Amino acid sequence: MRRAYIAGNWKMNLTPSEGVKLAKELAEAAKGCSAKVMVAPNFVTLPGVAEALKDSDIIVAAQNMNDHTSGAFTGEVAPAMLKDLGINTVILGHSERRAIYGESDALINSKVLLALEEGMDVVLCIGETLEEREGGKLEEVLSRQVTEGLKNVTEQQMAKITLAYEPVWAIGTGKTASPEDADGAHALVRSIIEKLFNKTVAEETIIQYGGSVKAANVKELMAKENIDGALVGGASLSVEKFLPIVTFDK
Ligand code: PGA
Repeated sequence: MRRAYIAGNWKMNLTPSEGVKLAKELAEAAKGCSAKVMVAPNFVTLPGVAEALKDSDIIVAAQNMNDHTSGAFTGEVAPAMLKDLGINTVILGHSERRAIYGESDALINSKVLLALEEGMDVVLCIGETLEEREGGKLEEVLSRQVTEGLKNVTEQQMAKITLAYEPVWAIGTGKTASPEDADGAHALVRSIIEKLFNKTVAEETIIQYGGSVKAANVKELMAKENIDGALVGGASLSVEKFLPIVTFDK
């Protein structure tokens, strides 16, 4: 049984005080919900949010981290710095990191391996651009991103990995993949995991959908067999918008 996993990626939004306020409101409002819930604030907002949520079930994650343990990497954040705050989950390979900051599959893979070595949980993002989808490259792109991103990850370590399928053309655009298209892509991702590992790992891996998820479409997405959760951007920035997503099963 795969437990629903709903995550809010705050991206470069909310100041530390705004973030702490939202975290406290959310902790109160989401009490007792059945889904696993995570929020990912920006780095400077992490300490306050981690403190505000330390007695709640909500997981606090980083949106990124470096692939080295320390050293001369100006502007970067290492896993030990996150762990010192009690942060044990990190989102890696988000399409904005890939497209805007040029992160390659190889770099993302070295971050994944370091996070796992450090005992952290990972949400690994994958997804095709519109050009790739229209060019018939969906399978090729997902296969490459999953295979390269998970290179040298062991079967045991897969328990620490969540995948987030986010078609790039659906992120922040208001366009959502139809539940059928999303489910089809998720099934494809599951088959790639089966090939890389085995059927059990494929069946146990949580695959979130991301790209303009909101209260109005979460139920039909979550009803699909292969969709186990959501990675939510814009609609995670207020309790009014995020709570109906977190409690989609109510
Ligand atoms: P969106 O972002 O919900 O604003 O489309 C999703 C994401 O990029 O994680």
